[in-house]
Amino acid sequence: MGSESDIERILWTEEEISGRVGELAAEISADFREVSPPVVVVGVATGAFLFLADIVRKMTFPVSVDFVRVESYGSGTESSGRPRISCDLKIDVKGKHVILVEDIVDTGNTLSCLISHLEGKGACSVSVCSFLDKPARRKVHFELVGEGKFYRGFECPDYFVVGYGMDYAELYRNLPYVGVLKPEMYE
Ligand code: IMP
Repeated sequence: MGSESDIERILWTEEEISGRVGELAAEISADFREVSPPVVVVGVATGAFLFLADIVRKMTFPVSVDFVRVESYGSGTESSGRPRISCDLKIDVKGKHVILVEDIVDTGNTLSCLISHLEGKGACSVSVCSFLDKPARRKVHFELVGEGKFYRGFECPDYFVVGYGMDYAELYRNLPYVGVLKPEMYE
């Protein structure tokens, strides 16, 4: 378990991901080029680590980078519905623009919890940049803060996906593509 042979189908290849990340970074860079005060890119650990590393290297404006850790999934494929921030930011975001970088928005619980958290810390805007978005499974509506915008890489069909940072039972995060596991891997 944990290898490429466990994958039933690839949804996005490494090349497709790289192309889309470049487009997103260009769009965000155009939107934030003239922005002041500073911009803090906040990655949601662990799932966003590869996406964040790739996208910040293509952003053409000054950014600070920090991470938060949120626990909402156990080792299964269903959200617990009650996210908990288990490791908070180091950077003070008061009066700053925040771009929250997520691997995937599913029910919206994690995002809604994090947006309120950042708003409570005094961020002047909160944008969200999610690599994948699964709108079919949305349960919680979230409002961005200030002039914040929502950016997404791809709309994801209603499958549990792994790779490019995303895991099942803490495995498969290092796959360079996004795929669906063979059904027997969930047993
Ligand atoms: P939400 O709170 O239900 O929106 O879930 C958000 C978090 O659940 C994401 O940041 C992921 O870590 C995890 N998650 C949701 N769907 C998937 C998936 O298909 N594969 C892997 N992780 C997922």
